[in-house]
Amino acid sequence: MTHGHTVDPDESAEEHWDSRYRESERRWSGEPNAALVTEAAGMTPGRALDIGCGEGADAIWLARRGWRVTAVDVSGVALERAARHAREAGAGTGVDWQRHDLAVSFPGGEWDLVSAHYLHSQAELPRDAVLRRAAAAVAPGGVLLVVGHADPGDREEAHHHGMPFPTPEEVLEQLRLEPGRWAVERAAEFERARADRERRPGLHRDNILRVRRLPG
Ligand SMILES: C[S@@+](CC[C@H](N)C(=O)[O-])C[C@H]1O[C@@H](n2cnc3c(N)ncnc32)[C@H](O)[C@@H]1O
Repeated sequence: MTHGHTVDPDESAEEHWDSRYRESERRWSGEPNAALVTEAAGMTPGRALDIGCGEGADAIWLARRGWRVTAVDVSGVALERAARHAREAGAGTGVDWQRHDLAVSFPGGEWDLVSAHYLHSQAELPRDAVLRRAAAAVAPGGVLLVVGHADPGDREEAHHHGMPFPTPEEVLEQLRLEPGRWAVERAAEFERARADRERRPGLHRDNILRVRRLPG
C-alpha cells in the first residue's frame, strides 16, 4: 500500500478506492491470501462470496478449484482488473463480479463460504455491520472466514491511522451470532511473511476468525 495517502473526508468509499487503485497498475501481489488457501483447501467447493475482493486473486483461486464465486468490491477499477485477471487465468466464467458499497448494499443469496480478507479501509466503512450482514449470508453448514491485520505495523502507522484492528474475539463479539447456532472453528493470531516497500523480508501479525453456521 502507498503510505501517507491523505484522506478527503468528503470522498466516497468508491472515489477513495478507485483513486487508490489508479495509483498503480497492480496494487496486490496477484497471489491468493495464504489463510484462504489453508482454510478452503479442506472444504468441498460450493458457493463462495468474497467481500472486498480487490483485484480478485482469492476469487480466481476459488473459481479455479470449482467454487461458484460471487466477488464484491466498491471499486469499479479493481473489479475491471479482477475480471481481466480471471479471463487471463482461464476462470472468466467462474466469478460473478458485483460492485457494491457494502455500507449501502449487499448481494442477495446465501453461500457455503463467505470470505472477508483485510476488509480495512481509510474511507468510511461500517465494518461490524458489514460483517454481521456477511454472517447472515452464510448457508446452513457454511463458514464465515474473517482475516484482518492484528495491528498497523510500524511502517504503516500513518496509513492506518484511525482504523480499527479488532482481535478475533472482538470480531466474534461484534458479529452477535445467535447462541447455539454457530461453532467457532478458529480464533487466532498468526504471523505472515511479508516484504516491506524496499522488498526486505519481514513478518506481519494478522488474525483469523472462522465460524460455522450449524446445519439445520
Ligand atoms: C485492503 S483491501 C483487501 C483486498 C483483498 N481482499 C485482499 O486481501 O487483497 C480492502 C478492499 O475492500 C474494498 N472496500 C473497502 N470499502 C468497501 C466498501 N464499503 N464496500 C465494498 N468494498 C469495499 C476496497 O476497495 C479494497 O479492494
